Amino acid sequence: MHPDGEKILLTEEQIKLQVTKLGRQISQDYANKEILVVGILKGAMVFLADLVRKITIPTYFDFVAVSSYGSSTKSSGVVRILKDLDRSIQGRHILIVEDIIDSGLTLNYLSDNLSSRGPASIKLCALLDKPSRRIEPVNIDYCGFTIPDEFVVGYGLDYNERYRNLPYIMILSPKIYGGGKQNVTA
Ligand code: PRP
Ligand code: MN
Ligand code: MG
Repeated sequence: MHPDGEKILLTEEQIKLQVTKLGRQISQDYANKEILVVGILKGAMVFLADLVRKITIPTYFDFVAVSSYGSSTKSSGVVRILKDLDRSIQGRHILIVEDIIDSGLTLNYLSDNLSSRGPASIKLCALLDKPSRRIEPVNIDYCGFTIPDEFVVGYGLDYNERYRNLPYIMILSPKIYGGGKQNVTA
């Protein structure tokens, strides 16, 4: 394990198995349809890359990058789109892919925003759900793992942009982030 980790929460093998199951379920549920996978940069990209290779129906990609206003205002729920989708989503089946749902503020904003653009449907696939920190309710259609309130990094998840490339998900040692259990760093 990386020396900054306290404990491995999810191994590469556990993640791989669950990603395969999610891909299979999505392929079944959308049989005879095509989907547009919308990835939320940057955290979702590792999960997205593995997930789409387990989906067997026609799959297109697009990406959004979002940021909250100001420094400590993530809890305000105000989200700014830094990079919007490249194309219209009107009439399309949208699958939003996220690495983690924490407060739910990012996802709440985005699903409202995307809904207003007239898609045929919108569903959400999140690798991790941390329900103990939820502020806004979020309906996760496809969830990989429900996790406790620990600061996790790896497999796309960062602390100050570090650790995203770890192939597993580990609990970050409190001496690295100075205590206080949370994942929101922006
Ligand atoms: C993290 C994570 C989710 C979001 C979840 O992204 O990747 O997108 O926060 O938090 P929420 O449910 O409280 O809104 P972050 O803003 O850190 O950007 P990143 O994906 O580039 O790391
Ligand atoms: Mn993110
Ligand atoms: Mg982050």
